[in-house]
Amino acid sequence: MPTEFEPVTENTALKAAIASAVDDAGGALPFRDFMDLALYHPTLGYYTSTRDVIGRAADYVTSPELTPLFGAMLGRQLREMWERLDRPDRFDAVEAGPGTGVLARDVLAWAARTAPDFAATLRYTLVETSPALTERQKTTLTAEGFEAKWRDGLPSGVTGCIFSNELLDAMPVHRVAVEDGALREIYVTRDGDGFGEELRDPHPDVAAYFDALALLPGEGCHAEVNVEAPRWIAAAAGALDRGYVLTFDYGYSASDLYAGWRADGTLLCFYRHNPSADPYARIGRQDITSHVDFTTIRRSGEDAGLQTLGLTTQAEFLTSLGIGEALQPPGGERPDMEEYFARRRAVTELIDPGGLGRVKVLVQAKAAAGPLTGLSVTDA
Ligand SMILES: C[S@@+](CC[C@H](N)C(=O)[O-])C[C@H]1O[C@@H](n2cnc3c(N)ncnc32)[C@H](O)[C@@H]1O
Repeated sequence: MPTEFEPVTENTALKAAIASAVDDAGGALPFRDFMDLALYHPTLGYYTSTRDVIGRAADYVTSPELTPLFGAMLGRQLREMWERLDRPDRFDAVEAGPGTGVLARDVLAWAARTAPDFAATLRYTLVETSPALTERQKTTLTAEGFEAKWRDGLPSGVTGCIFSNELLDAMPVHRVAVEDGALREIYVTRDGDGFGEELRDPHPDVAAYFDALALLPGEGCHAEVNVEAPRWIAAAAGALDRGYVLTFDYGYSASDLYAGWRADGTLLCFYRHNPSADPYARIGRQDITSHVDFTTIRRSGEDAGLQTLGLTTQAEFLTSLGIGEALQPPGGERPDMEEYFARRRAVTELIDPGGLGRVKVLVQAKAAAGPLTGLSVTDA
């Protein structure tokens, strides 16, 4: 029992619900289902409860939470996409997994301030599965008088851009281990008051995933398999009539993600900015995330009719779009140096090659073309 000085660091009702799910499954639940409940249980999950989870004062910081400059740079890129599409009367900006809604607020504010021609055509839709976060996003936007639509799934007939930041890395993943050259899947069991693990045969989707890649993680390695992310990209391709799918996420190519030296995979948990590798601690109170396989994501989009325009890093993407301008010291008689230094710190964090700057940016298109300024430096 925590004392009044100790924070409550697990959600006991959620832990009990997961324990029941393990029992109902006959004593062992695929890790994917454990993670799905831990993050997205209809009312008790990490993302579905009303606790603050994203931001400086919460568990982890994302790029849009750091500074409105991220939204301004995205706004620049969206405006250029609008031009590449020959300035349609209506440009759909569809943001999936919008967290607290600050990115929507910052894109809409940038457009209203600096690109009124584009702003007049902009229709912003937020796609969010968590009712609690939907309410939070509505508060963020209505406080500033911005209009948007909300949906719990992707819309259809989109002309514009479907984009996401750290959506795919928040999807529930299967976990696997390779033993004596054979692929095994990690199942969650009950162990006293907590949870344990056992290995079983892999789900057919997981085996098919590695068959498609024609590789396996290294002998003795643990790894994560996100079968939902490629399905989501294929759904985004289907939702698009004309335009772009823009994906910001932590990740690697499949050969890097499943390299023989990566013994413990990439699963990481965050509680109050402290990383941990234990998904069974602080249930419902910590984020659980894993890096994305960009080889499979990219291929899935292409199989669903998208053309890959480029894959780059956030550092390159934002630098190409001109975020360096914000590093220029202010002129004038009484420059606000405090504001300048705060901005400089935020930009440095956004493009830090060891931190947020290494987030990957994948741009795919349907009936739309480049060149796009954000992709001036690209790997693909
Ligand atoms: C890691 S947070 C990122 C939030 C925000 N994009 C940011 O960068 O601060 C993941 C977000 O995706 C939402 N989410 C998870 N799965 C989703 C899905 N299938 N469709 C839409 N939103 C989803 C979560 O509820 C949450 O808002």
